[in-house]
Amino acid sequence: MERVPEPELMEEKEQVISYDEADFSEGEVNLINQINQYFFKKNISLGEKDLIVDLGCGPGNISEKLAIKWPNTQVLGIDGSKEMILRAEFNKSISTNQKKLKNLRYICSDIKDIKSNNFLLKQRISLLVSNSLIHHITNLEDFFNTIRSLSSNVTVNFHKDLKRPLDEKSALELKEQCSKKYNEILTNDYYASLRASYTFKELKNFILENDLSSLDVFEEGENYLIVYGNV
Ligand SMILES: C[S@@+](CC[C@H](N)C(=O)[O-])C[C@H]1O[C@@H](n2cnc3c(N)ncnc32)[C@H](O)[C@@H]1O
Repeated sequence: MERVPEPELMEEKEQVISYDEADFSEGEVNLINQINQYFFKKNISLGEKDLIVDLGCGPGNISEKLAIKWPNTQVLGIDGSKEMILRAEFNKSISTNQKKLKNLRYICSDIKDIKSNNFLLKQRISLLVSNSLIHHITNLEDFFNTIRSLSSNVTVNFHKDLKRPLDEKSALELKEQCSKKYNEILTNDYYASLRASYTFKELKNFILENDLSSLDVFEEGENYLIVYGNV
């Protein structure tokens, strides 16, 4: 199936509310566990000096989980949509885990405009994460240039995203399954996201062709991809 890009930022209020109200916690917890297992295998432990950055953080689902899992680190969620950042700040303010989220901050910025000399990024980034972001980015170069410019040789990258279905029929089947659980706005967004997603081959080829061989891609189940490693 040909890729059909979608708008990068999720800026409409209804779209933000629909996304925020959905429960994606199973996949989110899996991602945190995968990162934790990777750290365990590599004998990495995070502490006070470490900064975790969540790119395209949306309403903060992953950022909050990162902040709770690694309470001694600083966690920074970044999203280019003001509505999403407002929602993330709101979610933090009403969280029952509020006391555990003191290490979490948000900034509103397009990932293409983040400067590694931003005062909030004074520390080197130890963990650079994104979930469901890559497919929003129109050109893959923009995504990889961003992670390259934000990473140092100690930065572990972990980026999970949807995998583009093989054909329109499969995309429509997934859309149909989604519609049984979620409202029309979220279902249409999900379908647009499936069509905008990249394939394993596209990501792998980009990595090979652009001197990023310390990164790797693996397929998680039938519908997800994870780009991980160092840049
Ligand atoms: C599908 S949501 C995922 C949110 C969150 N990561 C999660 O897992 O719940 C994608 C988010 O990426 C943000 N985004 C897309 N393109 C972006 C860009 N170029 N710069 C910053 N944020 C971007 C959107 O505004 C949206 O909030």
